[in-house]
Amino acid sequence: MKTEQPPVIRLSDYTAPAFAIPRTALTVDLDPTRTIVEAVLEVERVDGGAPSLTLDAEGMELLALEIDGTSVPEDAYRMEDDKLSIAEVPERFTLTARVAIDPQSNTRLEGLYRSNGVFCTQCEAEGFRRIAPFIDRPDLLSRYSVTIRADKKTCPVLLSNGNLVESGDLDDGRHYAVWEDPFPKPAYLFALVAGDLAWIADRFTTRSGRAVDLRIHVEHGNEGRAGYAMESLKRSMAWDEERFGLEYDLDIFNIVAVSDFNMGAMENKSLNVFNAKYILADPESATDGDFAAIESIVGHEYFHNWTGNRITCRDWFQLSLKEGLTVFRDQEFSADMRSRPVKRIQDVRMLRARQFPEDAGPLAHPVRPDSYMEINNFYTATVYEKGAEVIRMLHALLGEEGFQKGMRLYVERHDGQAVTCDDFVAAMADANGRDLDHFKRWYAQAGTPEVTVESHHDPEAETLTLTLAQMTPPTPGQPKKQPVTIPLALALIGPDGREMPIRIEGEDRGTETVLLLTEDRQSVTFEGVAERPRLSLNRGFSAPIRLNQRIGREDRAFLMAHDTDPFARWEAGQQYACDLLLEMIESLGRGETPKADPAFIEAIGHTLANNGLDDAFRAQVLALPTEEYIGEQMKIVDVDAIHTARETLKRALADAHYDRLLATYQARRSNEAFAPDAEQAGRRALKNACLALLAASGTADTAELVRLQAETANNMTDRMAAIMLLTGNGLPGRDEALAAFRERWKEDEQVMDKWFAVQATSPEADTLDRVRKLMQDPVFSMRKPNKVRALIGAFAAANPVQFNRADGAGYDFLAEQTIALDRLNPQVAARLIGPLGHWRRFDETRRDMMKAALERILATKDLSRDCYEIASKALAD
Ligand code: TRP
Ligand code: ZN
Repeated sequence: MKTEQPPVIRLSDYTAPAFAIPRTALTVDLDPTRTIVEAVLEVERVDGGAPSLTLDAEGMELLALEIDGTSVPEDAYRMEDDKLSIAEVPERFTLTARVAIDPQSNTRLEGLYRSNGVFCTQCEAEGFRRIAPFIDRPDLLSRYSVTIRADKKTCPVLLSNGNLVESGDLDDGRHYAVWEDPFPKPAYLFALVAGDLAWIADRFTTRSGRAVDLRIHVEHGNEGRAGYAMESLKRSMAWDEERFGLEYDLDIFNIVAVSDFNMGAMENKSLNVFNAKYILADPESATDGDFAAIESIVGHEYFHNWTGNRITCRDWFQLSLKEGLTVFRDQEFSADMRSRPVKRIQDVRMLRARQFPEDAGPLAHPVRPDSYMEINNFYTATVYEKGAEVIRMLHALLGEEGFQKGMRLYVERHDGQAVTCDDFVAAMADANGRDLDHFKRWYAQAGTPEVTVESHHDPEAETLTLTLAQMTPPTPGQPKKQPVTIPLALALIGPDGREMPIRIEGEDRGTETVLLLTEDRQSVTFEGVAERPRLSLNRGFSAPIRLNQRIGREDRAFLMAHDTDPFARWEAGQQYACDLLLEMIESLGRGETPKADPAFIEAIGHTLANNGLDDAFRAQVLALPTEEYIGEQMKIVDVDAIHTARETLKRALADAHYDRLLATYQARRSNEAFAPDAEQAGRRALKNACLALLAASGTADTAELVRLQAETANNMTDRMAAIMLLTGNGLPGRDEALAAFRERWKEDEQVMDKWFAVQATSPEADTLDRVRKLMQDPVFSMRKPNKVRALIGAFAAANPVQFNRADGAGYDFLAEQTIALDRLNPQVAARLIGPLGHWRRFDETRRDMMKAALERILATKDLSRDCYEIASKALAD
């Protein structure tokens, strides 16, 4: 039996709520299997509102319903279809609803659930309706007062939003706490946590002198691993004051780390809840990447206090209003704390790995989508990362000062409101006296624009003319596209490697300028250009586009050595590698042995030897484009050829630069005490990038080097780098290293995620069998999203060779696991399906098998809305 198609929600159908709920008082009597929630709501009809009141209410048993203290007769209300409706209600009244819910059996991890015995909530986007009947939409703001009652022994810690105003003991070994949040907020920002938690405490004094108590709550025994998160929090608070002039607004800020969580973290007002993976770290157990992620996510959630909480979204179509802007803010924070160019390179890598494929596939949608079936499916790379790129382009158009002017006006106008992306852009436009209507197309139009550049140098006239054409390919529901505003940062690099002065129509523009493309086709002429320059285009990745340039290899190599913009310099190497790899893949197709271009090998050698470049940057240059990115440049993806070509190129690099790679590696081996700072991390990154190339050389010496590092590393970054190479290259010592790792860390479920993931992403032929076996490991559980992502998610999304094995077993496995998980946790299940959506890009045999896997998911009885939407859209022609 097929699941019925869920209803489609449309932005164009938006209407404001018919009732206001200025105050909400909750009393939550916690019990693992039967928690009683009493919600006392002050309700007021909004002018012209309907006589009946409809509340969202899911997965609860209604115990009592009263209006102004009188119980509502049974024939006057209905509880069905996830709604509680009352036929006729007064203008203003107090509604009391008492319900029972079961946190213990909540495997969806939405609403109130338990994670390792700790009660916690997750309400974004629509989880509050699983806790109490409510008008659960972001434009309904209410002031909350929350009383929590629980067993004192198992739940000594009782937390909710705002300030603790009262606490004390009750009978029967229970106790209570009352929390009041002075700031009106939508239900999705409500949170409650209760359990036996340890904590670390600190304090931050704001610029205007408010002393804020900071606490990070963790499971007992993990206190020693929360310090870096605390430091990150304090840095975030200081940074937001300095860069954005935004201060914290309460006397207390709590973070709770839980092990079972659907996503990364959640910005609930003054009570952020985190996936423990993004809080807990020490040198022994966390990599440099983990530390960097903690800093950025702690910042992200903290920054939401203004961009998301004080100013929230009118409806869920506006999700990027808070997410795109807050990602932009966390990216800037990390850039200011660490290396700006390296951060930009990493962000672009991630955008290309996740958002570009999404924008080119069946699930493409605009930054502000105009319809959805299940909102949880729209927490996407497009809404978050492309949304951040849209904000970054506004920043490029207005400059830092103009952008901050716009931010100040945005806050002044909309503090305490639920608003739209249009409101945000209007504040930016009005503060700067600019018309941004054309720019707003970025919010409405899906797809990655392609910009084609042709250049003509006229030595007689001393001019250089660029002709720039933009085109956005069609996406589902949007066959015809309009041109968008593209801020294209550029410089002209002279033969001596210096930036040349830029003059356009008699106007001097310094040595770097931003061209504004707004039409399908435009041209621009630079004057006073005696010699043919090399073009440094889309510097800093000023626009999220694909750039088509007919550019020779010498020019690429020249830019690799001389481009004055670090991003563009890195990009020259990536594009060079990509051209080369595609050529190698073609020759593989003709049955020839692919040959690596010596000029590229030489250019990489120059970068490696250039001690004027910092280590972190050189590590980025040494990393070839990912297999996924190369696949994206092909009409039909050939995963095996891509893998072979890439390995061949790595080996050629290793053979050519063996001595220098080894010397660079050896020079960075040290016994210094580990610090998670950017400088040390850069050194480790370059060292391990060298080791990765050396491992590709296939010599016994390098294999031994890798084995030794796996065995003796004094930090997780080096240990994981080595183990990844052991499994990725099938080197001797692999099994021993994996066994030793398991023995050392089997009690630590967070570290064990790395052990699962490294095996799931191995290109070896027996990987799928291994993954199936690992599902039987006692540490694995389908109820734990981190485990599912580490094993099943990593296999499907980060192992192109084995997931796409020719017999289709990878696809079958994913369908089978998605269906199984859908019964427990639809939100996480739906996120597994993505890789099957790329069937159009594969050969016919694989295409049919991928479609069959999607059809199998779709044919499942009682499939969730979440999976239905993804699978049906992935299949649609
Ligand atoms: N708003 C959160 C963030 O961006 C993410 C989020 C959305 C989330 N839905 C969630 C987190 C569900 C956990 C579960 O930081
Ligand atoms: Zn966010």
